[in-house]
Amino acid sequence: MIDSTPRPMILEDAYADGEDARHFQLRLVDPQATDLAAQPGQFFMLAVPGHGEAPFTYVRAPDAEGRFSALVRRTGQLTEALFELQIGSVLGYRGPLGRGWPHDLTGRHVLVIAGGCGLAPLAGLIDAARDNAARLQVIYGARHPGAQVLARERARWRLDLDYLETCDVASPGERSGSPVAHLDELLGQNIPDAVLCCGPEPLMLASAEHCLKRGVPAVHIWLSLERRMHCGAGLCGHCHIGASYACVDGPTYNYEQYLALTRAAGLYSTAQAIRHC
Ligand SMILES: Cc1cc2nc3c(=O)[nH]c(=O)nc-3n(C[C@H](O)[C@H](O)[C@H](O)COP(=O)(O)OP(=O)(O)OC[C@H]3O[C@@H](n4cnc5c(N)ncnc54)[C@H](O)[C@@H]3O)c2cc1C
Ligand code: FES
Repeated sequence: MIDSTPRPMILEDAYADGEDARHFQLRLVDPQATDLAAQPGQFFMLAVPGHGEAPFTYVRAPDAEGRFSALVRRTGQLTEALFELQIGSVLGYRGPLGRGWPHDLTGRHVLVIAGGCGLAPLAGLIDAARDNAARLQVIYGARHPGAQVLARERARWRLDLDYLETCDVASPGERSGSPVAHLDELLGQNIPDAVLCCGPEPLMLASAEHCLKRGVPAVHIWLSLERRMHCGAGLCGHCHIGASYACVDGPTYNYEQYLALTRAAGLYSTAQAIRHC
């Protein structure tokens, strides 16, 4: 039976981390009673008392003491309320939920493409892959420098990763344009074993199409799809992508799965996606 009871957690700390975004440090009150085995790319439901629940991804997955972190952009009622809370406030937690990024990246050449807040679900994966992938390349795009998130993590990655940043509107002398505009430079003659992409859907689709044309098989291109979610448990149907429920089967899908699901449901439009990127 699905356990839909939120577990209590404490808001331990929070700091500004990008335009209208805050990085929340959270701690589960009873880690022994909670499944702590969250994988990068999975998500949890966060409940703010009196304001309901919403899904968020882990930047840092829970440790043995139940401490983890999440990057939240202020968008509506629940996130407004969350931003107003005092340190020490009690929140609700359900997780880990959904399916994370593929696990079999050891010894592989991995290319990570992130846009905006889409860097958050990839942060744990980047930290794991830096230790066990044969080669890791990361490109992160944002609308402008102030919109970039995860400043502390990016400062660390800049030191010892093959890591590029680009902004739609960049400072003079900085790299500009969408990450897609820089993919050929990154790919060179070496085709990655896995491409992991998270950000606005037009960016993900344009990246996927570009990598596909360069010879990366669709099953090795992974996207994380954000859909409206209510139950987070495959019960309400709000998060459907064609015949699939993103809260259970996703939010990560490989591009072959994405094409099959959206084509079957008459939802697919890469041309439109690329026009907007
Ligand atoms: C699997 C998953 C992981 C997520 N991870 C994060 C995360 O790590 N950090 C983060 O800041 N946000 C994340 N989100 C989005 C977050 O759940 C929503 O922004 C949240 O519902 C906002 O709640 P609210 O009450 O503040 O705003 P609402 O009033 O619910 O929404 C404000 C506006 O955002 C739109 N919106 C809300 N949710 C979505 C959605 N899923 N897709 C498209 N538009 C939407 C609404 O239509 C409305 O226009 C994630 C969503 C999913 C599905
Ligand atoms: S959110 Fe209810 S089925 Fe996915």
